[in-house]
Amino acid sequence: MKLWGGRFSKSTDAMVDDFNSSIRFDSRMFRQDIKGSMAHVKMLGKCGVIPKEDSDLIYKTLGEIMSDIEKGIVEFEIDAEDIHMNIEKILTERIGDVAKHLHTGRSRNDQVALDIRMYLKDEVKEIREMIKSLIEVLLRLAEDNLKVLMPGYTHLQRAQPITFAHHLMAYVQILLRDMERLADCYKRLDVMPLGSGALAGTTYPLDRAMVAEELGFSAITENSIDGVSDRDFAIELASCLSILMMHLSRFSEEIVLWCTHEFSFIELDDAYSTGSSIMPQKKNPDIAELVRGKSGRVYGNLVALLTMMKALPLAYNKDMQEDKEAIFDSVDTVKMCLPVFTKMIDTMKVKPDKMLSAAKAGFTNATDIADYLVKKGIPFRVSHEIIGKMVAYCIQHNKNIDELTLDELKTFSDKFEQDVYKAISLETCVNERKLPGGPAAESVKASVLKARSKLKTLFETEKMRCF
Ligand code: ARG
Repeated sequence: MKLWGGRFSKSTDAMVDDFNSSIRFDSRMFRQDIKGSMAHVKMLGKCGVIPKEDSDLIYKTLGEIMSDIEKGIVEFEIDAEDIHMNIEKILTERIGDVAKHLHTGRSRNDQVALDIRMYLKDEVKEIREMIKSLIEVLLRLAEDNLKVLMPGYTHLQRAQPITFAHHLMAYVQILLRDMERLADCYKRLDVMPLGSGALAGTTYPLDRAMVAEELGFSAITENSIDGVSDRDFAIELASCLSILMMHLSRFSEEIVLWCTHEFSFIELDDAYSTGSSIMPQKKNPDIAELVRGKSGRVYGNLVALLTMMKALPLAYNKDMQEDKEAIFDSVDTVKMCLPVFTKMIDTMKVKPDKMLSAAKAGFTNATDIADYLVKKGIPFRVSHEIIGKMVAYCIQHNKNIDELTLDELKTFSDKFEQDVYKAISLETCVNERKLPGGPAAESVKASVLKARSKLKTLFETEKMRCF
């Protein structure tokens, strides 16, 4: 008989059992479920809601069940529907009627809200550690490539010279924001819903603060209806993870481009690339492509969650059981992508010569030669036009700007002097862009230091308690 079977005269159809059951995907929350039950029952005993000795026995047996599950000697049953009732059933099999006290003052509605929050809190911590490792790799690479010139792009057309370090540091900023977003999301995960009951709280004198303390939560939910019907935290996390995957996907796209023969800015390590079953010469960036591809499913999960929640009346509705597969898949996907992506970046070979020759071609110093004339008193729009014509001339004669003789330059403006060559060298173009946030080696060095200390404080100042 079902734990809720009292008011029913027939047992459920086997097909319904199968359809209704979530044990296939919520069994992964067994630790959280058991820890939650242990804290609850300890509190019930302490508050005198149930006899102390019953509380102690339940508490102890739950601990044993947890280690038996960890040992792999416990089987869950589809009929018992979900992880919550499976655990309660096992408890009842072990200690009989005493087990029947456990669910006092509690509903599966607040229980499941608790379990998911606990589960996701741990996952957020792990994901943040993984992002941190990626940032550390990028900081190291940036420091090693402070003076490596490469073209910066807009519209995927060569635009202005930058350094490889500067380009990598853009991703550091991007990832630091991902870390902050996750820390913010964590704050809203870190709220304890037990005591909400089915939706209207409970008449038992429960000590909600004690349960929160016991389980390492910073606060308790403020409204019992919201406590059981809120899934914002899952949507928020799915959203943070979608943004993160969008970032990894952009980075992946660049990796894919950079290791083409056409760019050839980097070479992936053999251990982090793959071959072709037919073309012997191929070395493919499968990891980057898969990360780019997997961003699709993570976005899909966000849309699934938003759509699932969008018209649900307060409070709990069974639709909400659908939250788990979506958010678990996002978490699993991100946790699969980050470490391998990090290793791929960590082991790739940078090709400074190729980057430099790409920066030299494509007139990436055109803005700087226009600025040269501005410094000699010509208005920028006029100078822009002059240099536009100069570029057209260069294309016609198959030359770079710095390959034009002074006489040739003077045909465009008599303001050109010998000092122009230094002014438009790629090194000057980069080194003169030394405002904070610019590509000059000194600016990038400063932002590496700043990012390092930010990374440190992001972890130090946040209270992310483990339980
Ligand atoms: N398996 C359910 C879920 O994941 C647990 C809550 C069930 N509550 C209920 N009243 N049927 O949402």
